[in-house]
Amino acid sequence: MAIEAATIRIQRFNPDKDKKPYIETFELVPERDTTVLDALHTIKAERDGSLTFRRSCRHAICGSCAMNVNGQNILVCKTPLQDVLDKKRRTTIRPLPYLPIIKDLVVDRSSFWEQYLRVKPWLLPPADVPEKEFRVSPEEVAALNNAETCIMCGACYSACQVIGMNKEYIGPHALLKAFLRILDPRDMAPNERLQDLAGGDGVYRCHTIFNCIDACPKDLNPTQAIETLRKLAQKREAFESARQDRQLTIKDPIAFD
Ligand code: FES
Repeated sequence: MAIEAATIRIQRFNPDKDKKPYIETFELVPERDTTVLDALHTIKAERDGSLTFRRSCRHAICGSCAMNVNGQNILVCKTPLQDVLDKKRRTTIRPLPYLPIIKDLVVDRSSFWEQYLRVKPWLLPPADVPEKEFRVSPEEVAALNNAETCIMCGACYSACQVIGMNKEYIGPHALLKAFLRILDPRDMAPNERLQDLAGGDGVYRCHTIFNCIDACPKDLNPTQAIETLRKLAQKREAFESARQDRQLTIKDPIAFD
């Protein structure tokens, strides 16, 4: 059912002809269940086919549709338009901040992926791989704090003011992945990983601003993961031996000593 008209303000930028980004306004009469992504699709289909944005799954899984709406990084495919309209039924959509704009709402995520690769996001398995399977207890899985549900949308990365100032900072997305690997009993290099993260661009660069928590569409807590990594980096030896003894069966992985 169609409801009252809404004003959608979209930041536009075509590097081939525009000197700088500008805001273009579209009026739309949405349906009650229209999402922000639906509104963008309607505008592209009916008003301006050159409007450019990324999306794929439309189910908050692929992470490609992260954008900045009214100053907040969100997944537009899972956000109802109604929820982001102000009293005058207006909303403003911009690309993710702190990243170079390719066109309109599409940004260049190269630095995001480069930092991700720095933490070696894959598992480094031990030499003695078990014949059948790696057994990981429910408690050990709980200690990972749902970090494996990250969809790599970039919302936390581009909400981080430290990234805004310093592109060498590894960033909340990659540090969350490092946390996942370091606490995973199947990984053989937690100590080396912690050593790397204690360097200049790693965990001590975080200013604990919490923007990454506010931005995460999966309600993850990169700040807490970074804080845990800092503490583990300070007592690497005790951590290593507790880990070898499979004693990290607790919700708070730094409570082993
Ligand atoms: S389109 Fe895949 S997360 Fe939004």
